[in-house]
Amino acid sequence: MTLQFSLGTAAPETVDTACILVGVYEQGMLTSAAARVDSAAEGVIKRQVESGDITGKAGSTTLLFAPHGVTAKRVLVIGLGSQKTFDEARYQKVSIEAARALGKLPVADAVSYLTEVDVPGRDSAWRVRIAALTTDHAAYRYTATFKPRDKSKQVTLTNVSFAGNADAQTGLDQACALAAGIEFTRELANLPPNICNPAYIAEQAQTFADGQGDKVDCRVLDHVEMERLGFGSLLAVARGSVNKPKLVVLEYKNGNEGDKPYAFVGKGVTFDTGGISLKPGPGMEEMKFDMGGAAAVLGAFIAAVKMELKVNLVCVVPAVENMPDGDAYRPSDVITSLSGLTIEVLNTDAEGRLILCDALTYTAQTFHPHTIIDAATLTGACVVALGKHATGLMSKHDDLAAELIAAGEKTLDRAWRLPLWDDYQVQLDSGFADIANIGGKSAGAITAGCFLSRFTEGQRWAHLDIAGTAWDEGRKGLATGRPVALLTQWLMDRIA
Ligand code: BES
Ligand code: MN
Ligand code: ZN
Repeated sequence: MTLQFSLGTAAPETVDTACILVGVYEQGMLTSAAARVDSAAEGVIKRQVESGDITGKAGSTTLLFAPHGVTAKRVLVIGLGSQKTFDEARYQKVSIEAARALGKLPVADAVSYLTEVDVPGRDSAWRVRIAALTTDHAAYRYTATFKPRDKSKQVTLTNVSFAGNADAQTGLDQACALAAGIEFTRELANLPPNICNPAYIAEQAQTFADGQGDKVDCRVLDHVEMERLGFGSLLAVARGSVNKPKLVVLEYKNGNEGDKPYAFVGKGVTFDTGGISLKPGPGMEEMKFDMGGAAAVLGAFIAAVKMELKVNLVCVVPAVENMPDGDAYRPSDVITSLSGLTIEVLNTDAEGRLILCDALTYTAQTFHPHTIIDAATLTGACVVALGKHATGLMSKHDDLAAELIAAGEKTLDRAWRLPLWDDYQVQLDSGFADIANIGGKSAGAITAGCFLSRFTEGQRWAHLDIAGTAWDEGRKGLATGRPVALLTQWLMDRIA
Protein backbone atom coordinates (compact mmCIF):
# COMPACT_ATOMS: atom_id res chain seq x y z
CA MET A 1 0.00 0.00 0.00
CA THR A 2 1.36 3.36 -0.95
CA LEU A 3 -0.93 5.53 1.16
CA GLN A 4 -0.12 6.21 4.80
CA PHE A 5 -3.02 6.94 7.12
CA SER A 6 -3.06 8.56 10.55
CA LEU A 7 -5.43 10.18 13.01
CA GLY A 8 -5.25 13.82 14.02
CA THR A 9 -6.99 16.28 16.28
CA ALA A 10 -5.63 19.56 14.91
CA ALA A 11 -8.07 22.40 14.25
CA PRO A 12 -9.02 22.77 10.59
CA GLU A 13 -8.15 26.46 10.33
CA THR A 14 -4.61 26.04 11.68
CA VAL A 15 -3.54 22.58 10.51
CA ASP A 16 -0.48 22.77 8.28
CA THR A 17 -1.18 20.63 5.23
CA ALA A 18 -1.53 20.82 1.45
CA CYS A 19 -5.28 20.28 1.61
CA ILE A 20 -8.09 19.95 4.12
CA LEU A 21 -11.46 18.36 3.38
CA VAL A 22 -14.60 19.78 4.95
CA GLY A 23 -18.27 19.01 4.39
CA VAL A 24 -21.23 21.27 3.61
CA TYR A 25 -24.86 20.11 3.61
CA GLU A 26 -27.53 21.43 1.30
CA GLN A 27 -29.18 24.75 2.09
CA GLY A 28 -25.95 26.24 3.36
CA MET A 29 -25.71 24.07 6.48
CA LEU A 30 -22.02 24.01 7.35
CA THR A 31 -20.42 21.18 9.31
CA SER A 32 -18.47 22.40 12.34
CA ALA A 33 -15.14 22.08 10.48
CA ALA A 34 -16.53 24.05 7.54
CA ALA A 35 -17.90 26.70 9.93
CA ARG A 36 -14.49 27.11 11.59
CA VAL A 37 -12.76 27.49 8.25
CA ASP A 38 -15.45 29.91 7.16
CA SER A 39 -15.09 32.21 10.14
CA ALA A 40 -11.28 32.10 10.07
CA ALA A 41 -11.37 33.02 6.39
CA GLU A 42 -13.97 35.79 6.70
CA GLY A 43 -16.92 33.98 5.18
CA VAL A 44 -15.22 32.46 2.14
CA ILE A 45 -17.49 29.40 2.18
CA LYS A 46 -20.74 31.19 2.97
CA ARG A 47 -20.12 33.66 0.15
CA GLN A 48 -19.80 30.82 -2.31
CA VAL A 49 -22.93 29.23 -0.89
CA GLU A 50 -24.80 32.49 -1.43
CA SER A 51 -23.47 32.84 -4.97
CA GLY A 52 -24.59 29.29 -5.71
CA ASP A 53 -21.06 28.04 -6.40
CA ILE A 54 -21.28 25.69 -3.43
CA THR A 55 -24.61 23.84 -3.42
CA GLY A 56 -23.94 21.13 -0.90
CA LYS A 57 -25.26 18.60 -3.40
CA ALA A 58 -24.12 15.12 -2.36
CA GLY A 59 -20.73 14.31 -3.81
CA SER A 60 -20.09 17.74 -5.35
CA THR A 61 -16.64 19.20 -4.74
CA THR A 62 -15.32 22.76 -4.77
CA LEU A 63 -11.68 23.69 -4.36
CA LEU A 64 -10.70 26.88 -2.54
CA PHE A 65 -7.08 27.77 -3.10
CA ALA A 66 -5.10 29.38 -0.27
CA PRO A 67 -8.00 31.16 1.42
CA HIS A 68 -6.80 33.96 3.63
CA GLY A 69 -6.75 33.20 7.36
CA VAL A 70 -6.42 29.42 6.92
CA THR A 71 -3.06 27.65 7.27
CA ALA A 72 -3.83 24.82 4.81
CA LYS A 73 -2.85 25.45 1.20
CA ARG A 74 -6.22 24.27 -0.10
CA VAL A 75 -9.72 23.65 1.18
CA LEU A 76 -11.71 20.98 -0.62
CA VAL A 77 -15.39 21.51 0.15
CA ILE A 78 -17.49 18.34 -0.20
CA GLY A 79 -21.26 18.44 -0.65
CA LEU A 80 -23.05 16.11 1.80
CA GLY A 81 -26.62 16.46 0.52
CA SER A 82 -29.51 17.02 2.88
CA GLN A 83 -28.65 16.74 6.55
CA LYS A 84 -32.05 15.25 7.40
CA THR A 85 -31.56 12.17 5.25
CA PHE A 86 -27.81 11.77 5.76
CA ASP A 87 -27.01 8.08 6.27
CA GLU A 88 -24.23 5.54 5.88
CA ALA A 89 -24.71 5.00 2.17
CA ARG A 90 -24.44 8.76 1.62
CA TYR A 91 -21.35 8.88 3.81
CA GLN A 92 -19.74 6.25 1.59
CA LYS A 93 -20.79 8.07 -1.57
CA VAL A 94 -19.37 11.42 -0.47
CA SER A 95 -16.22 9.72 0.83
CA ILE A 96 -15.65 8.19 -2.61
CA GLU A 97 -16.23 11.50 -4.41
CA ALA A 98 -13.98 13.32 -1.95
CA ALA A 99 -11.24 10.73 -2.46
CA ARG A 100 -11.56 11.01 -6.23
CA ALA A 101 -11.29 14.79 -6.17
CA LEU A 102 -8.39 14.64 -3.74
CA GLY A 103 -6.58 12.11 -5.92
CA LYS A 104 -6.63 14.56 -8.83
CA LEU A 105 -4.90 17.32 -6.88
CA PRO A 106 -1.11 17.72 -6.93
CA VAL A 107 -0.88 17.23 -3.19
CA ALA A 108 1.20 14.77 -1.18
CA ASP A 109 -0.65 15.12 2.11
CA ALA A 110 -4.14 15.99 3.28
CA VAL A 111 -6.28 16.15 6.41
CA SER A 112 -9.93 15.09 6.20
CA TYR A 113 -12.61 16.39 8.56
CA LEU A 114 -15.35 14.33 6.91
CA THR A 115 -14.81 11.74 9.64
CA GLU A 116 -16.38 14.21 12.13
CA VAL A 117 -19.69 14.13 10.30
CA ASP A 118 -22.40 12.41 12.29
CA VAL A 119 -23.62 9.13 10.72
CA PRO A 120 -26.69 7.74 12.51
CA GLY A 121 -25.91 4.40 14.15
CA ARG A 122 -22.20 4.44 13.36
CA ASP A 123 -19.27 5.36 15.59
CA SER A 124 -16.09 7.20 14.76
CA ALA A 125 -14.08 3.98 14.23
CA TRP A 126 -16.54 3.01 11.51
CA ARG A 127 -16.37 6.45 9.91
CA VAL A 128 -12.58 6.42 9.86
CA ARG A 129 -12.56 2.89 8.48
CA ILE A 130 -14.85 3.73 5.57
CA ALA A 131 -13.01 6.99 4.87
CA ALA A 132 -9.64 5.23 4.78
CA LEU A 133 -10.95 2.41 2.58
CA THR A 134 -12.61 4.73 0.08
CA THR A 135 -9.49 6.90 -0.07
CA ASP A 136 -7.32 3.86 -0.65
CA HIS A 137 -9.75 2.53 -3.25
CA ALA A 138 -9.73 5.78 -5.22
CA ALA A 139 -5.93 6.01 -5.09
CA TYR A 140 -5.45 2.58 -6.67
CA ARG A 141 -3.90 2.63 -10.14
CA TYR A 142 -3.21 -0.41 -12.26
CA THR A 143 0.29 -0.04 -13.69
CA ALA A 144 1.66 -3.60 -13.68
CA THR A 145 1.80 -3.90 -17.46
CA PHE A 146 2.11 -0.35 -18.76
CA LYS A 147 3.14 3.20 -17.92
CA PRO A 148 0.10 5.48 -17.81
CA ARG A 149 0.61 8.18 -20.47
CA ASP A 150 -1.46 10.78 -18.68
CA LYS A 151 0.77 12.12 -15.91
CA SER A 152 -2.09 14.17 -14.46
CA LYS A 153 -3.89 10.94 -13.59
CA GLN A 154 -1.02 9.77 -11.41
CA VAL A 155 -1.55 10.01 -7.71
CA THR A 156 0.96 12.00 -5.71
CA LEU A 157 -0.92 11.58 -2.45
CA THR A 158 1.02 9.69 0.22
CA ASN A 159 -0.20 10.80 3.66
CA VAL A 160 -3.80 11.28 4.71
CA SER A 161 -4.81 12.15 8.23
CA PHE A 162 -8.39 11.78 9.47
CA ALA A 163 -9.93 13.87 12.20
CA GLY A 164 -10.48 11.47 15.05
CA ASN A 165 -9.22 10.56 18.50
CA ALA A 166 -7.81 7.34 19.92
CA ASP A 167 -11.25 5.64 19.84
CA ALA A 168 -10.92 5.46 16.10
CA GLN A 169 -7.47 3.87 16.08
CA THR A 170 -8.79 0.31 15.86
CA GLY A 171 -10.97 1.36 12.93
CA LEU A 172 -7.92 2.76 11.19
CA ASP A 173 -5.77 -0.31 11.91
CA GLN A 174 -8.50 -2.57 10.58
CA ALA A 175 -8.83 -0.40 7.48
CA CYS A 176 -5.10 -0.67 6.78
CA ALA A 177 -5.15 -4.48 7.03
CA LEU A 178 -8.28 -4.63 4.90
CA ALA A 179 -6.84 -2.22 2.35
CA ALA A 180 -3.79 -4.47 1.98
CA GLY A 181 -6.05 -7.49 1.35
CA ILE A 182 -8.22 -5.57 -1.10
CA GLU A 183 -5.17 -4.27 -2.93
CA PHE A 184 -3.81 -7.81 -3.28
CA THR A 185 -7.16 -8.94 -4.69
CA ARG A 186 -7.45 -6.08 -7.17
CA GLU A 187 -3.89 -6.39 -8.41
CA LEU A 188 -4.11 -10.16 -8.90
CA ALA A 189 -7.49 -9.97 -10.63
CA ASN A 190 -6.44 -7.12 -12.94
CA LEU A 191 -3.42 -8.97 -14.29
CA PRO A 192 -3.81 -10.47 -17.77
CA PRO A 193 -4.25 -14.25 -18.02
CA ASN A 194 -0.94 -14.76 -19.80
CA ILE A 195 0.70 -13.65 -16.55
CA CYS A 196 -1.89 -14.65 -13.98
CA ASN A 197 -2.28 -18.36 -14.72
CA PRO A 198 -2.84 -21.12 -12.16
CA ALA A 199 0.87 -21.44 -11.35
CA TYR A 200 1.12 -17.68 -10.83
CA ILE A 201 -1.76 -17.69 -8.32
CA ALA A 202 -0.07 -20.54 -6.46
CA GLU A 203 3.22 -18.60 -6.40
CA GLN A 204 1.54 -15.49 -5.03
CA ALA A 205 -0.07 -17.49 -2.22
CA GLN A 206 3.22 -19.22 -1.49
CA THR A 207 5.09 -15.90 -1.41
CA PHE A 208 2.61 -14.44 1.04
CA ALA A 209 2.84 -17.52 3.27
CA ASP A 210 6.66 -17.48 3.18
CA GLY A 211 6.62 -13.86 4.34
CA GLN A 212 4.64 -14.85 7.44
CA GLY A 213 7.15 -17.34 8.82
CA ASP A 214 5.38 -20.33 10.34
CA LYS A 215 2.17 -18.47 11.07
CA VAL A 216 0.80 -19.43 7.66
CA ASP A 217 1.07 -22.80 5.91
CA CYS A 218 0.79 -23.08 2.15
CA ARG A 219 0.40 -26.28 0.17
CA VAL A 220 -0.07 -26.54 -3.57
CA LEU A 221 -1.47 -29.72 -5.12
CA ASP A 222 -0.49 -30.22 -8.76
CA HIS A 223 -2.39 -32.21 -11.39
CA VAL A 224 -0.51 -35.42 -10.61
CA GLU A 225 -1.48 -35.25 -6.95
CA MET A 226 -5.06 -34.32 -7.85
CA GLU A 227 -5.26 -37.24 -10.26
CA ARG A 228 -4.12 -39.56 -7.52
CA LEU A 229 -6.77 -38.18 -5.17
CA GLY A 230 -9.57 -38.30 -7.75
CA PHE A 231 -10.35 -34.68 -8.65
CA GLY A 232 -12.09 -35.91 -11.81
CA SER A 233 -14.33 -32.89 -12.24
CA LEU A 234 -11.68 -30.18 -11.75
CA LEU A 235 -9.24 -32.05 -13.98
CA ALA A 236 -11.80 -32.39 -16.77
CA VAL A 237 -12.10 -28.61 -16.98
CA ALA A 238 -8.32 -28.17 -16.89
CA ARG A 239 -7.63 -30.66 -19.69
CA GLY A 240 -7.93 -28.18 -22.55
CA SER A 241 -5.15 -25.93 -21.31
CA VAL A 242 -1.37 -26.28 -21.34
CA ASN A 243 -1.39 -24.24 -18.12
CA LYS A 244 -1.71 -27.03 -15.60
CA PRO A 245 -4.21 -26.66 -12.76
CA LYS A 246 -3.22 -26.08 -9.15
CA LEU A 247 -5.10 -26.43 -5.90
CA VAL A 248 -3.83 -23.84 -3.47
CA VAL A 249 -4.36 -24.44 0.25
CA LEU A 250 -3.54 -21.82 2.86
CA GLU A 251 -3.87 -22.40 6.59
CA TYR A 252 -3.78 -19.91 9.43
CA LYS A 253 -3.94 -21.36 12.92
CA ASN A 254 -4.42 -18.48 15.30
CA GLY A 255 -7.52 -19.65 17.16
CA ASN A 256 -7.95 -22.18 19.93
CA GLU A 257 -6.25 -25.45 19.21
CA GLY A 258 -8.84 -27.98 18.21
CA ASP A 259 -11.40 -25.38 17.11
CA LYS A 260 -12.77 -26.25 13.68
CA PRO A 261 -11.53 -23.79 11.08
CA TYR A 262 -13.57 -21.41 8.98
CA ALA A 263 -13.02 -22.18 5.31
CA PHE A 264 -13.05 -19.90 2.27
CA VAL A 265 -13.11 -21.42 -1.20
CA GLY A 266 -12.68 -19.24 -4.30
CA LYS A 267 -13.22 -19.90 -8.00
CA GLY A 268 -9.90 -19.44 -9.76
CA VAL A 269 -10.57 -19.72 -13.50
CA THR A 270 -7.68 -17.63 -14.81
CA PHE A 271 -9.37 -17.39 -18.19
CA ASP A 272 -12.78 -18.67 -19.22
CA THR A 273 -13.18 -19.09 -22.97
CA GLY A 274 -16.18 -21.32 -22.36
CA GLY A 275 -14.17 -24.29 -23.68
CA ILE A 276 -15.79 -26.28 -26.52
CA SER A 277 -19.04 -24.43 -25.66
CA LEU A 278 -17.06 -21.37 -26.75
CA LYS A 279 -18.17 -17.94 -25.62
CA PRO A 280 -18.86 -15.22 -28.20
CA GLY A 281 -15.88 -12.96 -28.97
CA PRO A 282 -17.13 -9.56 -27.81
CA GLY A 283 -16.49 -9.10 -24.12
CA MET A 284 -14.57 -12.34 -23.76
CA GLU A 285 -11.57 -10.39 -22.45
CA GLU A 286 -13.55 -9.77 -19.26
CA MET A 287 -13.20 -13.47 -18.48
CA LYS A 288 -9.70 -12.79 -17.17
CA PHE A 289 -11.62 -11.70 -14.06
CA ASP A 290 -13.04 -15.21 -13.69
CA MET A 291 -10.55 -15.80 -10.89
CA GLY A 292 -12.11 -12.95 -8.89
CA GLY A 293 -13.41 -15.35 -6.26
CA ALA A 294 -9.94 -16.84 -5.77
CA ALA A 295 -8.40 -13.37 -5.56
CA ALA A 296 -11.03 -12.30 -3.03
CA VAL A 297 -10.69 -15.26 -0.67
CA LEU A 298 -6.91 -14.84 -0.78
CA GLY A 299 -7.32 -11.12 -0.05
CA ALA A 300 -9.64 -11.82 2.88
CA PHE A 301 -7.16 -14.39 4.17
CA ILE A 302 -4.37 -11.80 3.96
CA ALA A 303 -6.50 -9.18 5.73
CA ALA A 304 -7.32 -11.67 8.51
CA VAL A 305 -3.65 -12.54 8.99
CA LYS A 306 -2.65 -8.86 9.01
CA MET A 307 -5.29 -8.20 11.67
CA GLU A 308 -3.99 -11.22 13.56
CA LEU A 309 -7.57 -12.37 14.04
CA LYS A 310 -7.85 -15.10 16.62
CA VAL A 311 -9.28 -17.64 14.22
CA ASN A 312 -8.40 -20.89 12.56
CA LEU A 313 -8.85 -20.24 8.87
CA VAL A 314 -8.27 -22.19 5.69
CA CYS A 315 -8.42 -20.89 2.18
CA VAL A 316 -8.75 -23.25 -0.77
CA VAL A 317 -8.36 -22.08 -4.35
CA PRO A 318 -8.93 -24.33 -7.35
CA ALA A 319 -7.01 -22.61 -10.15
CA VAL A 320 -7.52 -23.69 -13.76
CA GLU A 321 -7.84 -22.29 -17.26
CA ASN A 322 -10.87 -23.20 -19.39
CA MET A 323 -9.78 -23.61 -23.02
CA PRO A 324 -10.98 -25.41 -26.17
CA ASP A 325 -8.48 -27.98 -27.42
CA GLY A 326 -8.17 -31.37 -29.11
CA ASP A 327 -7.98 -32.83 -25.64
CA ALA A 328 -10.57 -30.57 -24.04
CA TYR A 329 -13.59 -32.03 -22.24
CA ARG A 330 -16.81 -31.89 -24.22
CA PRO A 331 -20.55 -31.55 -23.85
CA SER A 332 -22.04 -34.98 -23.08
CA ASP A 333 -18.91 -36.20 -21.27
CA VAL A 334 -19.70 -37.92 -18.00
CA ILE A 335 -17.08 -37.22 -15.36
CA THR A 336 -16.60 -38.53 -11.84
CA SER A 337 -16.13 -35.93 -9.14
CA LEU A 338 -14.00 -36.29 -6.02
CA SER A 339 -17.18 -36.92 -4.04
CA GLY A 340 -17.98 -39.93 -6.24
CA LEU A 341 -21.04 -38.29 -7.82
CA THR A 342 -21.01 -38.51 -11.61
CA ILE A 343 -21.71 -35.36 -13.62
CA GLU A 344 -23.05 -35.06 -17.16
CA VAL A 345 -21.37 -32.08 -18.82
CA LEU A 346 -24.02 -30.38 -20.91
CA ASN A 347 -22.08 -27.16 -21.32
CA THR A 348 -18.32 -26.75 -20.88
CA ASP A 349 -18.91 -23.07 -20.07
CA ALA A 350 -20.50 -24.05 -16.76
CA GLU A 351 -17.00 -24.86 -15.56
CA GLY A 352 -16.85 -22.90 -12.31
CA ARG A 353 -19.14 -25.28 -10.48
CA LEU A 354 -17.10 -28.21 -11.81
CA ILE A 355 -13.89 -27.01 -10.19
CA LEU A 356 -15.66 -25.77 -7.07
CA CYS A 357 -17.43 -29.05 -6.38
CA ASP A 358 -14.13 -30.90 -6.06
CA ALA A 359 -12.57 -28.06 -4.04
CA LEU A 360 -15.58 -28.06 -1.69
CA THR A 361 -15.42 -31.83 -1.24
CA TYR A 362 -11.68 -31.64 -0.55
CA THR A 363 -12.18 -28.82 1.96
CA ALA A 364 -14.93 -30.65 3.83
CA GLN A 365 -13.04 -33.97 3.91
CA THR A 366 -9.65 -32.51 4.82
CA PHE A 367 -10.53 -29.83 7.37
CA HIS A 368 -13.99 -30.68 8.78
CA PRO A 369 -14.61 -26.93 8.83
CA HIS A 370 -16.98 -25.08 11.12
CA THR A 371 -18.36 -23.15 8.12
CA ILE A 372 -17.53 -23.03 4.41
CA ILE A 373 -18.07 -19.92 2.31
CA ASP A 374 -17.30 -19.93 -1.37
CA ALA A 375 -16.97 -16.90 -3.63
CA ALA A 376 -17.25 -17.26 -7.39
CA THR A 377 -17.91 -15.30 -10.56
CA LEU A 378 -20.31 -18.10 -11.28
CA THR A 379 -23.19 -16.99 -13.47
CA GLY A 380 -24.20 -14.31 -15.93
CA ALA A 381 -27.71 -14.95 -14.58
CA CYS A 382 -26.70 -13.43 -11.25
CA VAL A 383 -25.68 -10.23 -13.05
CA VAL A 384 -29.10 -10.16 -14.71
CA ALA A 385 -30.83 -10.66 -11.37
CA LEU A 386 -28.88 -8.28 -9.13
CA GLY A 387 -26.66 -6.14 -11.36
CA LYS A 388 -23.43 -4.74 -9.99
CA HIS A 389 -24.67 -3.59 -6.62
CA ALA A 390 -25.32 -6.77 -4.72
CA THR A 391 -23.47 -10.06 -4.51
CA GLY A 392 -25.81 -13.06 -4.80
CA LEU A 393 -25.96 -15.02 -1.55
CA MET A 394 -27.27 -18.57 -1.35
CA SER A 395 -27.39 -20.76 1.73
CA LYS A 396 -29.68 -23.26 3.38
CA HIS A 397 -28.56 -21.92 6.76
CA ASP A 398 -30.68 -18.92 7.72
CA ASP A 399 -28.35 -17.92 10.55
CA LEU A 400 -25.29 -17.98 8.31
CA ALA A 401 -27.11 -16.03 5.59
CA ALA A 402 -28.10 -13.41 8.18
CA GLU A 403 -24.50 -13.15 9.42
CA LEU A 404 -23.20 -12.57 5.91
CA ILE A 405 -25.88 -10.02 5.05
CA ALA A 406 -25.07 -8.13 8.26
CA ALA A 407 -21.33 -8.16 7.50
CA GLY A 408 -22.06 -6.81 4.03
CA GLU A 409 -24.25 -4.02 5.42
CA LYS A 410 -21.60 -2.98 7.91
CA THR A 411 -18.91 -2.70 5.26
CA LEU A 412 -21.22 -1.45 2.50
CA ASP A 413 -20.15 -4.52 0.50
CA ARG A 414 -23.65 -5.85 0.29
CA ALA A 415 -25.12 -9.22 -0.55
CA TRP A 416 -28.72 -10.17 -1.31
CA ARG A 417 -30.15 -13.61 -0.72
CA LEU A 418 -31.63 -15.85 -3.38
CA PRO A 419 -33.53 -19.04 -2.44
CA LEU A 420 -31.91 -22.46 -2.57
CA TRP A 421 -35.16 -24.37 -2.30
CA ASP A 422 -35.20 -28.02 -3.23
CA ASP A 423 -37.89 -27.18 -5.79
CA TYR A 424 -35.12 -26.06 -8.12
CA GLN A 425 -33.07 -29.25 -7.83
CA VAL A 426 -35.03 -31.18 -10.49
CA GLN A 427 -33.62 -28.80 -13.10
CA LEU A 428 -30.31 -30.61 -12.62
CA ASP A 429 -31.68 -34.10 -13.33
CA SER A 430 -29.73 -36.09 -15.88
CA GLY A 431 -30.51 -39.33 -17.73
CA PHE A 432 -26.84 -40.29 -17.88
CA ALA A 433 -25.26 -39.24 -14.59
CA ASP A 434 -26.10 -38.41 -10.98
CA ILE A 435 -26.39 -34.73 -11.89
CA ALA A 436 -26.16 -32.42 -14.92
CA ASN A 437 -23.90 -29.38 -14.84
CA ILE A 438 -26.53 -26.92 -16.08
CA GLY A 439 -30.12 -26.36 -15.06
CA GLY A 440 -31.76 -24.87 -18.14
CA LYS A 441 -32.95 -21.37 -18.94
CA SER A 442 -34.57 -20.22 -15.73
CA ALA A 443 -33.03 -19.31 -12.37
CA GLY A 444 -29.46 -19.79 -13.57
CA ALA A 445 -27.80 -18.33 -10.48
CA ILE A 446 -29.91 -20.52 -8.21
CA THR A 447 -29.42 -23.77 -10.13
CA ALA A 448 -25.66 -23.14 -10.03
CA GLY A 449 -26.00 -22.80 -6.26
CA CYS A 450 -28.11 -25.96 -6.19
CA PHE A 451 -25.37 -27.81 -8.03
CA LEU A 452 -22.83 -26.79 -5.38
CA SER A 453 -25.26 -27.71 -2.61
CA ARG A 454 -25.07 -31.36 -3.73
CA PHE A 455 -21.40 -31.36 -2.77
CA THR A 456 -21.77 -29.63 0.60
CA GLU A 457 -24.38 -31.82 2.22
CA GLY A 458 -23.96 -31.87 5.98
CA GLN A 459 -21.79 -28.75 5.84
CA ARG A 460 -22.64 -25.32 7.19
CA TRP A 461 -22.12 -23.59 3.86
CA ALA A 462 -22.92 -20.43 1.93
CA HIS A 463 -22.24 -19.46 -1.67
CA LEU A 464 -21.49 -15.94 -2.89
CA ASP A 465 -22.01 -15.31 -6.61
CA ILE A 466 -19.85 -12.27 -7.35
CA ALA A 467 -20.24 -12.26 -11.15
CA GLY A 468 -21.73 -8.76 -10.98
CA THR A 469 -19.65 -7.29 -8.19
CA ALA A 470 -16.06 -8.51 -8.70
CA TRP A 471 -15.18 -5.98 -11.38
CA ASP A 472 -16.47 -2.86 -13.09
CA GLU A 473 -17.43 -3.70 -16.65
CA GLY A 474 -16.19 -1.86 -19.70
CA ARG A 475 -12.89 -1.27 -21.38
CA LYS A 476 -11.27 0.35 -18.40
CA GLY A 477 -13.15 -1.63 -15.79
CA LEU A 478 -11.02 -2.71 -12.86
CA ALA A 479 -11.38 -5.38 -10.22
CA THR A 480 -13.31 -3.96 -7.26
CA GLY A 481 -11.85 -6.07 -4.46
CA ARG A 482 -15.31 -7.30 -3.50
CA PRO A 483 -16.24 -9.23 -1.37
CA VAL A 484 -13.03 -8.99 0.68
CA ALA A 485 -14.59 -6.52 3.11
CA LEU A 486 -17.71 -8.65 3.59
CA LEU A 487 -15.73 -11.85 4.20
CA THR A 488 -13.26 -10.21 6.57
CA GLN A 489 -16.00 -8.46 8.53
CA TRP A 490 -17.86 -11.74 8.84
CA LEU A 491 -14.73 -13.30 10.36
CA MET A 492 -14.25 -10.33 12.70
CA ASP A 493 -17.85 -10.65 13.88
CA ARG A 494 -17.30 -14.34 14.70
CA ILE A 495 -14.76 -13.50 17.38
CA ALA A 496 -16.31 -10.25 18.62
N1 BES B 1 -17.59 -17.14 -15.66
C1 BES B 1 -18.88 -17.35 -16.19
C2 BES B 1 -19.94 -16.48 -15.53
C3 BES B 1 -19.92 -15.02 -15.86
C4 BES B 1 -20.46 -14.57 -17.05
C5 BES B 1 -19.47 -14.12 -14.95
C6 BES B 1 -20.46 -13.23 -17.32
C7 BES B 1 -19.49 -12.77 -15.21
C8 BES B 1 -20.00 -12.33 -16.40
C9 BES B 1 -19.30 -18.80 -16.00
O1 BES B 1 -18.29 -19.73 -16.05
C10 BES B 1 -20.24 -19.11 -17.10
O2 BES B 1 -19.83 -19.10 -18.21
N2 BES B 1 -21.51 -19.36 -16.76
C11 BES B 1 -22.48 -19.64 -17.72
C12 BES B 1 -23.32 -20.76 -17.20
C13 BES B 1 -24.26 -21.34 -18.20
C14 BES B 1 -23.47 -22.07 -19.29
C15 BES B 1 -25.20 -22.28 -17.51
C16 BES B 1 -23.31 -18.38 -17.92
O3 BES B 1 -23.57 -17.66 -16.96
O4 BES B 1 -23.66 -18.10 -19.06
MN1 MN C 1 -17.90 -20.34 -18.05
ZN1 ZN D 1 -16.40 -19.06 -15.54
